[in-house]
Amino acid sequence: MVAKRDFVSVDDLSGSEILALFRAADRFEADLRAHSGQCPGTILATLFFEPSTRTRLSFESAMLRLGGGVISASEAGSTSATKGESLADTVRVVGGRYSDIIVLRHPFEGAARVAARYASVPVVNAGDGAHEHPTQTLCDLYTLWRQKGKLDGLEVLLAGDLKYSRTIHSLAYALARFGSNLVFQPFPGLEIPESVLVRLERDFSVDVRRARAFEIKGLGAGKDAVYVTPNKPHQNTLFTQIDDEEIDRIDAIYMTRLQRERLEGNEDPTRTDRYPSLDPAQFQGKRFKDMGLMHPLPRVDEISYEFDDDPRALYFRQAALGVPIRMALLAFLLGRLELDAEPEAPHPAGRSREPRERAVYRSAVGLRCKNPRCVTHAPHERYVVPEFLEIREAPPLLRCVFCDWEVEPALIGHAQSRRLHRSNAAEAQRIGAARRVYFEDEAQATAAGFGNA
Ligand code: NCD
Repeated sequence: MVAKRDFVSVDDLSGSEILALFRAADRFEADLRAHSGQCPGTILATLFFEPSTRTRLSFESAMLRLGGGVISASEAGSTSATKGESLADTVRVVGGRYSDIIVLRHPFEGAARVAARYASVPVVNAGDGAHEHPTQTLCDLYTLWRQKGKLDGLEVLLAGDLKYSRTIHSLAYALARFGSNLVFQPFPGLEIPESVLVRLERDFSVDVRRARAFEIKGLGAGKDAVYVTPNKPHQNTLFTQIDDEEIDRIDAIYMTRLQRERLEGNEDPTRTDRYPSLDPAQFQGKRFKDMGLMHPLPRVDEISYEFDDDPRALYFRQAALGVPIRMALLAFLLGRLELDAEPEAPHPAGRSREPRERAVYRSAVGLRCKNPRCVTHAPHERYVVPEFLEIREAPPLLRCVFCDWEVEPALIGHAQSRRLHRSNAAEAQRIGAARRVYFEDEAQATAAGFGNA
């Protein structure tokens, strides 16, 4: 039997599979009504624990256009989750006789990875907290690919709320992989998370550089901009000063709304600065001539309605192309569409791609992920055992397989002797991988019955 394929992170598909999906989507797009013979008799379940308009409806439309059916739980409040049911149980039931594929949106980061492990049918991540939103990335890439004819060597500026916009995170990984250059232009206080930059550097071989100044009016004038470029020789023309380079052409600006619902405590950067609002007057001149203005929608005030008739506005195209690209994805994951493409080898934590060679550390005792929004801290998902990829052995550096946050455990215990060592001590290095138990601090180790040597 062929192993099921999930689409949880954007790197669960290989680059050549993504391009093959675009070619299939072109065929669907040519006549959306001509493909009801593609997936008859199959049922899609949409499980949405957060609000959605486009993502859910375009998936449902895609399935119906493929000749299948749809069942939907579109409000968390209407499911047994409110009675305390776990995600694992929900997807085991829904992915049993009820449906053949599940599309899930959930507030906790890594939730879709958990669901994929428990469901017997393919699981598609339609947004897991602020972590990833890989099918929005397919819409974004597909739009760019149709517009520009390629995905490598593009100059793309990602702006707005880069901290909580999951669409930004998935898109950045994908564009880096295809060899585009990225400029992160955050709204002050909502910078790109360290976990994303670190993963870009480690898994996608990019150079991360601080950028000095930007001059796009209204975009926050260059505070904390970051430039990310494929780690190989490239020739760019530049539009502004980034270290010693200058960019004079921009292929796309991807704007995001303030993800107000995810702000924590009294975090509200708009108290001191006005969130940008883009209008065509800010984008005069040669460097913006061929730029596409992108946005995952919904827009609030960050793009003026004056832009809508500008040929550079791509946001409604992105939303429209969500149907054919999701048709292609669903048909592929359901085994009803063969792609002329190379898959990539399986990965120890269930991912299809990088970093395959890394070992997995799993322990119910000791180290926990430090991301408070990680699914391993979700009240209904206490059965999920923390699991980390070993990024570096000495001193140890681990990455949560669910949400990608990295952690450097301070202490290592020996599973049998229960002796505890500083993780940079020579004795600690002598403990074999299978006998290591990691801890964040002494209190955690003592609670687990480990003590000093
Ligand atoms: C995005 C999301 O849900 O992350 N919306 C979408 O799926 N098109 C972006 C957003 O809500 O700002």
